[in-house]
This record gives sequence, structure tokens and C-alpha cells, in this order.
Amino acid sequence: MQAMPAPPPDRLTVLITGASSGIGEALARCFARDGHRLLLVARRAGHLQALADALRRDHGVVAEAWPADLARPEGVTALLEALKRKRRRVDVLVNNAGVLAQGAFAVQPAAGQQALIDLNVSAPTALLAALLPGMRRRGFGRVLNVASIAAFQAVPGLATYAASKAFMLSLTESLAEELRGSGVTATALCPGITATGMLDRAAAANRRLAALPGFVIGDVDAVAEAGYRGCLAGAVIVVPGLVNQAAMLAAGSTPRWLLRRVTGALGRRLDTDNPQGRR
Ligand SMILES: NC(=O)c1ccc[n+]([C@@H]2O[C@H](COP(=O)([O-])OP(=O)(O)OC[C@H]3O[C@@H](n4cnc5c(N)ncnc54)[C@H](OP(=O)(O)O)[C@@H]3O)[C@@H](O)[C@H]2O)c1
Repeated sequence: MQAMPAPPPDRLTVLITGASSGIGEALARCFARDGHRLLLVARRAGHLQALADALRRDHGVVAEAWPADLARPEGVTALLEALKRKRRRVDVLVNNAGVLAQGAFAVQPAAGQQALIDLNVSAPTALLAALLPGMRRRGFGRVLNVASIAAFQAVPGLATYAASKAFMLSLTESLAEELRGSGVTATALCPGITATGMLDRAAAANRRLAALPGFVIGDVDAVAEAGYRGCLAGAVIVVPGLVNQAAMLAAGSTPRWLLRRVTGALGRRLDTDNPQGRR
């Protein structure tokens, strides 16, 4: 029988990337509500400071703004050095910061693809490599990697984004096994389409996305709550929402060739305004 992970201590120090908006901000509210200390990371220092002030005021927790540009390797290094210098121990790492690039791969600027990989793949990997050893030594830790339902299959029209999320899902599953019994757990949160700034920007560039029916769009607080609970409980994969869970079940029993034909056809339907993927 599998041993249950150790219950979390009462007061954890939680580092959340991409905490200035959307799912990251909603996750910060979940952790703060239960009294945990927050290190809030993103580029927009003003947003982070306003959130830190609100969390301190509303929940009486320690919350600090740690501005950093994680798409730049030197931004990640500076953040890690500052954590060391200020002797901040991280009990929970939430790798949430991410960007989306829509449109056909062949017409996207190479620099944009690389920046997406730097933020969605390289930064979380570097943070994990730096922070996991300490968690293991202390015998307790939680990792929450924000992937996507796009991690489960190819998504033509979102090729690099979907590949970056598949990386996060695969990495999480491997880590979860490697860490079994260590007191440290790894969770992949795989939301479907969720009402955040990311969706607003994608819909502004593609009016067919703006016309999606409401029932397929997840509520940001519900998505964060599912991720928060799954993370503390040590679940390996969390797919919030019945619609997304049904889609995952269907995808799991569909041959991959058929799945990519279907996602390809859907992608082309969504992109008929702009078949070349220009934004
Ligand atoms: N919304 C969806 O439909 C959906 C679905 C599945 C998965 N997800 C995933 O959920 C995560 C959060 O996205 P969201 O929907 O909440 O979108 P969002 O509101 O746009 O949040 C993205 C966050 O990432 C931060 N960020 C962007 N570039 C950064 C950089 N270079 N360095 C540091 N931080 C950076 C942003 O802050 P700054 O701009 O202040 O840096 C912001 O806090 C992403 O990983 C996304 O892929 C979203």
C-alpha cells in the first residue's frame, strides 16, 4: 500500500511565480486564507505589492513582493541568489508563470518561441533544481506545476505552448515517483480554458475564441482552489472541472493519430480568421 505523504505544517513559506494576476494571484489568496507566508514573483512590481498589501490586510499573513523577469536566465539567477541572501526557505514552490503563443509555428518569430520556452520550461526547471534539494533534506516540501489540459495531446495552432505544458506534466509525473516516500510531493495542475488575462488576450486576437460557450470556460478561483487542495494533499495530477475531466477521459481512450486530426481540425476552425497565424 502507498504511504500517505506527511501532513503539511501549519505555516508554510510559499513561492508563487506569476502571482501578479490570474491563476497565480488566486492561488496566493488560497494559501494566504490558511495563514501561509507568501513570496510573490512576477515582473509587475506594483501589482505584486498591491496584492501583498491586500493579503497582509485581509489575512494577517506575511506576504512579500519579489519582482523578477523569469524569461531571462539572469532574472532566475538573481531571484535564487536573493532568496539565499535573505535566507528564505521555500516549503512550497508554485511554478505558475507562463505565456501563450497562438498561430502556426512556421510563421511565428523564433525569438517569441524561445521566450515562451525560457519562461514556461527553463525557469520552472531551474527553480526546481535549486529548491528541491533543500525540501528533500528537510523531509518536507510541495511542488505545484501549472500545466494545462493542452499537456495531454498535440495542439496544432498552439504547438510550442502545448509542448511546454507536456514537458511540465511529464516532469511532474517523474518527480512524483522519484520523490515517493521523501515527504516532498509534486503536483501538476492541468486547467482547461480559464477566465484570466491570458484568455482575454487570446480572445482579443481571435474573435472565434471570444465566442466560446460559457460552460467550457473555468472560473479562476475554482481552478486555484482545486490546485491548492491537490498540492497540499500531494495529488499528482489535478484536472479541474467536469468538462475538462470528461475531455481527458475521452482523449485517453482515443488513438493519438485521431486525436491530433481532431485537435488540428478544431484549431483550423478557430483560426479561419487568420490562417497564417499572424497577430
Ligand atoms: N487561462 C487559461 O486558459 C489557462 C489554461 C491552462 C493553463 N494556464 C496556465 O496558467 C498559468 C497562469 O496563467 P493565467 O491564465 O493566470 O494568465 P495571466 O493572468 O496572464 O498570468 C500570467 C502570469 O505570468 C506572469 N509572467 C508573464 N511573463 C513573465 C515573466 N517573463 N517573468 C515572470 N512572470 C511572468 C505574469 O505577470 P507579469 O506580467 O507581471 O510578469 C502573470 O502573473 C500559465 O502557466 C498558463 O499557461 C492557463
